[in-house]
Amino acid sequence: MTIDPTRWALALALLAAYALMCVLLARARRIVPDDGAPADWLVAWASQTGSAEYLAQQTVATLRTGGLAARSASMDQIDEAALRGATRILFIASTYGEGDAPDNAERFARLLAGAAAPLPHLHYGLLALGDSSYTHFCGFGRRLDAALQALGAQPLFARVEADRTAPAALDAWQHHLSHLAGTSDAPDWSAPAWADWRLDSRQLLNPGSAGAPVYRIGLLPQDGALPAWEAGDLVQVSAPADPDYPREYSIASVGAEGRLELLVRLHLRADGGAGLASGWLAHDAAIGAPITLRLRVHSRFRIGANGGRPLILIGNGTGIAGLRAHLKHRVDAGETRNWLLFGERNAAHDRFCGDEISAWHGAGMLEQLHLVFSHDGDPLRYVQHALAQQAALLRDWIARDAAIYVCGSLHGMAAGVHEALLAALGQDGVDQLAESGRYRRDVY
Ligand SMILES: Cc1cc2nc3c(=O)[nH]c(=O)nc-3n(C[C@H](O)[C@H](O)[C@H](O)COP(=O)(O)O)c2cc1C
Repeated sequence: MTIDPTRWALALALLAAYALMCVLLARARRIVPDDGAPADWLVAWASQTGSAEYLAQQTVATLRTGGLAARSASMDQIDEAALRGATRILFIASTYGEGDAPDNAERFARLLAGAAAPLPHLHYGLLALGDSSYTHFCGFGRRLDAALQALGAQPLFARVEADRTAPAALDAWQHHLSHLAGTSDAPDWSAPAWADWRLDSRQLLNPGSAGAPVYRIGLLPQDGALPAWEAGDLVQVSAPADPDYPREYSIASVGAEGRLELLVRLHLRADGGAGLASGWLAHDAAIGAPITLRLRVHSRFRIGANGGRPLILIGNGTGIAGLRAHLKHRVDAGETRNWLLFGERNAAHDRFCGDEISAWHGAGMLEQLHLVFSHDGDPLRYVQHALAQQAALLRDWIARDAAIYVCGSLHGMAAGVHEALLAALGQDGVDQLAESGRYRRDVY
């Protein structure tokens, strides 16, 4: 057999190029330089409604105050190579569903669960956010902690658990950070300030409904100056009966309408009493009454980079609030590539924002409209069934670069919609949409 020298040279050149590429990739992913000196810190957050994301930004700011190089990343942005290259990560993780990971951490949770090789070089801190009224308090944060320890990663300090972002737990976390950063000069972490508003209007949207009453609540600031917000953002309302327990609502209006609107369903407790915040807004507060609330940026449900894309809006019940704000914004901007899939009980009583939606559809501002009334037919039919039926249209819109926004109940709707998306687009397809920010959810 003769050996062609040109072939050898080509093979060697290819090998050298491959080796160089490996070195460059490893460098690009490395978070700490070879000498092990404290360099970059990664602050990895898992958040559904923005608290953990906000705290991750504050954490980065605090570390930087101490002169440390730090950056934050959504948990799903961390792939296996980045995880293996990291030596210092601070995790901030909330919990959803029944002890589940938020949407932007599902992939990372699978990655950890499937990790075979240990992570002995990783030192980490963990702030778990949760609400102790749920059975699986801080369920995802605790599982994350256990998985990291099982892989041999070293905790820098004991897990901090924050019940409803309790100030004492955040103080403890800040204390750890100050210690790591060697500074007591931490920036102010206070959440947006509470402000005084007044109840301006209240309209029952579903008279005669078999479901609990839903009200369109109009609010104006006491001092007259309307603060800025974007479609997708939330408000927290503090009920006078228990000011420590704010309830979150999606904003249904856009700033150009000159008022803040919410859709509030009267929540009836097992003992027959009304929910604190919904009872206050829907019944007890008189028109003109002062309302204490604060706006919350919900960057994961804002339009962001999806502004130039077709939009598929999917939801049920009062979830129409967040979807309506997006639609109104787009209609005002002359964007017609909108598809709304909305489900409620009966067409006769539960057509929330029905006239407006019909008008937009009639005027060509809403390209596709599927309204699904579960109790009008037999068998029961929900929004996820309509989506499954429209799988071909869905694939067509996704091929046109559409983004999907889901707003409404987690169990009754979002889980079913997720299944329908998996069936139509496959796991990889759905993962890709989520990773590129084209699948966003505001579910509760
Ligand atoms: C639908 C829903 C389900 C939740 N499930 C849990 C849970 O199982 N366990 C828990 O500790 N907290 C649970 N929470 C509370 C959140 O984890 C908590 O409010 C957290 O501060 C939210 O952080 P985020 O804004 O970063 O998503 C749940 C909240 C919602 C709205």
